[in-house]
Amino acid sequence: MKINNRLSNVEEYHFKKIDDIKNKAINSGKTIIDLSIGDPDLEVHSNITDALIGALKDDGYNNYPPYDGVIELRKAVINYYNDVYNVSLNLDEVIILIGSKEGISNIVPAVCDVGDCVIVPEPAYPVYKICSKLWGCIPYTVPLSRSNGYMPNLEIIPEKVVNKCKLMFINYPNNPTGAVASSDFYKRIIKFSYDNNIVLCNDSAYNEIIQVNKEPISLMQYDKNRLCIEFGTLSKTYNMTGYRIGYGVGNANVISALSKIKSNCDSGQFIPVQKAAIAALNLERDYVQNARKIYDERRSMCKSVLKQKNIDFFDAEATFYLWCKTPRNYTTNEFCEELLINYGIVVLPGNVFGKLGYDYFRIALTKDKFVIEEALKHIKKCIL
Ligand SMILES: Cc1ncc(COP(=O)(O)O)c(C=O)c1O
Repeated sequence: MKINNRLSNVEEYHFKKIDDIKNKAINSGKTIIDLSIGDPDLEVHSNITDALIGALKDDGYNNYPPYDGVIELRKAVINYYNDVYNVSLNLDEVIILIGSKEGISNIVPAVCDVGDCVIVPEPAYPVYKICSKLWGCIPYTVPLSRSNGYMPNLEIIPEKVVNKCKLMFINYPNNPTGAVASSDFYKRIIKFSYDNNIVLCNDSAYNEIIQVNKEPISLMQYDKNRLCIEFGTLSKTYNMTGYRIGYGVGNANVISALSKIKSNCDSGQFIPVQKAAIAALNLERDYVQNARKIYDERRSMCKSVLKQKNIDFFDAEATFYLWCKTPRNYTTNEFCEELLINYGIVVLPGNVFGKLGYDYFRIALTKDKFVIEEALKHIKKCIL
């Protein structure tokens, strides 16, 4: 059987592999506490589930949805950007996605030709790099280092890469590190993208998972010429990972190219799920503040236990992840294996996020504070 050559360049999706390891441990009778994947444990608000169920009674609920998304949902995204970021968007600058992962993949062929470079950060959510390869592009990795606050150094990107590049991904607030970008950083990187005619794309999956009472930041606030793209998702803020609903906003030509790919490859998300997303975006802002408060508490509890155990970590204040240094004398895989075997704790080895994550591991704060605390407190103190 002949298979696409490019697939030999791509590993199986890491989370699928972790799932296999987890299931093996569970099947062998082990009790595990899963702090690996970023699947929030908080409840879905009843307005969201009510909207989903209510929409099943609407005429035409079962029909193909409009290709760019239900218009009321696109308008709800526009209102959200207006209210939260003071950014005005037109309808042709908004598209509804089957989760933001879908948009991250489909923007590659929407913008790039086969053989083009795509600038991707590392460590990073693996999808930027993998999908670039799958679509026949060449990912160019910009390292994110702790000493630089996990911001890319644009100066080191070679001119020949820049000349072959039409698309660049960034992701702030950042997975896996939890780093947050400043307005200065956004201004600098937007200038770089304008100067070099590169579509800058911010994956803002964790835009709302920041400290209580902090203001979320959007790339769109600084993209004065409206040449960039931002992806958003309902997955993390509203605990809707399984609903598969997200959006892309920004440059109308890029949104239109994305729409062309999508309308030829998929037919959009089930209308009732889109109605549920409208209900989510229409929730009072207290809802978001409450989730932030919960993650703030988990983050500070986790930091204090890690300190007691001599485990070094990046002092992040956003996302529900902590990016922790693998203790001396361990590789990241060895340490994660020890956590699973000895303590039943599943965390992600840093190399899931690229080679540059080789000496870190990621804890997802997606379980109750007391459950995380109980799990971590048994870990033996590490040697500094
Ligand atoms: C950085 C980042 N972007 C995008 C996604 C995908 O989100 P969605 O559920 O909208 O596809 C994730 C999911 O973990 C993520 O961590």
